Amino acid sequence: MTGTSELDRFDRHLVIIGGCGHVGLPLAIAFASRGARVGIYDVSESSVTMVNAGRMPFMEPGATEALQRAVAAGLLEASTDPAIVSTAEHVVVVIGTPVDEHLNPDQAAIPNALGGCIEYLRDGQLLILRSTVYPGVTALVEKMVAGFGAQIEVAFCPERIAEGKAMTELFELPQIVSARSVAALERAAALFGMLTSKLVPMSPEEAELAKLFTNVWRYVKFATANQLYMMANDRGLDFERIRQGLTADYPRAADMPAAGFAAGPCLFKDTMQLAAFNHNNFALGHTAMAINEGLPLYVVHRLEQQYDLGSMTVGILGMAFKGGSDDIRSSLSYKLKRILAFKADAVLCTDPYVTVDPGLLPLADVLSRSDLLVIGAPHPEYQDLVTDKPVADIWNILGQGVRI
Ligand SMILES: NC(=O)c1ccc[n+]([C@@H]2O[C@H](COP(=O)([O-])OP(=O)(O)OC[C@H]3O[C@@H](n4cnc5c(N)ncnc54)[C@H](O)[C@@H]3O)[C@@H](O)[C@H]2O)c1
Repeated sequence: MTGTSELDRFDRHLVIIGGCGHVGLPLAIAFASRGARVGIYDVSESSVTMVNAGRMPFMEPGATEALQRAVAAGLLEASTDPAIVSTAEHVVVVIGTPVDEHLNPDQAAIPNALGGCIEYLRDGQLLILRSTVYPGVTALVEKMVAGFGAQIEVAFCPERIAEGKAMTELFELPQIVSARSVAALERAAALFGMLTSKLVPMSPEEAELAKLFTNVWRYVKFATANQLYMMANDRGLDFERIRQGLTADYPRAADMPAAGFAAGPCLFKDTMQLAAFNHNNFALGHTAMAINEGLPLYVVHRLEQQYDLGSMTVGILGMAFKGGSDDIRSSLSYKLKRILAFKADAVLCTDPYVTVDPGLLPLADVLSRSDLLVIGAPHPEYQDLVTDKPVADIWNILGQGVRI
């Protein structure tokens, strides 16, 4: 436990605003598994009901059992009532921070969410921002809280887990902690010290950029691989054979990713947040976006050069944004579906994990009714796929090469 005197004044160690989401809920469960008393404030009634019943609103390996233990032990409770915010020493904010349809970040997302529960903030609390924020939002929240007149300090401790790995990475990844004052930094470090001993202190401004740079780095690497993929593929060469050959026992290129749809709720939007922050002067980021977002267009373009798509039914296997996930947020499989819906006679979609799309069909139906298949997400279920239909597989999940 934190061992601070502050805790004596509060019923809980922490409350997480947005705590039923993909980042907030694993974090809540992780803290509860270390004995912390955790509250969740979330506006989603359905998610709150599920969490209090010990059920995960989304897939996260290893989370369900730990959630059930935490709820049964009385260590974790979710609520749609913002009054729960006043019960905890630490208030962690981890709501979504998307860009809009014109790629503009919403600098007011966090202040607006806080505005909804500001009357429940109490003197002595430490307010910890954990969402990925537009640079400067930490300072904005500090100003907002100061204006409110409460004795509350602010920290920014960004989340860096990957969905699907949260329940191990929360205990293994180094945790960036940042705050303006030494006291606030020490309190944030003490809290996250419950999860990991690997703490990396920074200033808030450094930490804001560190989080965005982390995601941009990954997005640009994926774009590089995808551009090289298209270059090789246009010449009738198999990028995956080239990649495996050049990375074999060659450490300087070992981090070259395979080709694939670089999608999901973070990498794209965080690259656009950084671009906006740099006055849209971010050629590398914008180029990465054009390449990654262009890959479904390229795939369809290649297919229409080889097939009479207009007379064919095309099946997409995997609609989640990545393999082994049920999350369809910003999934490029849906972009692929839209393009194919325009070009092909019909498009059928399937996914073993996605539960939120009533249009999905069982795999067997898609296999039997399609003339051509495209792997949209490299779910492990597809590794042993048996079909006599042609398959476009830029991921090499079938192990038969990535040429299309
Ligand atoms: N998803 C990831 O893998 C990942 C990884 C690292 C960081 N992040 C960052 O974490 C943040 C959250 O992402 P996420 O994927 O968990 O989003 P999410 O949409 O899954 O979760 C957000 C939760 O906040 C709730 N919510 C929204 N507005 C609220 C409000 N005003 N008050 C209370 N609750 C509210 C929603 O109901 C939802 O449960 C984002 O900034 C994201 O960039 C995400």
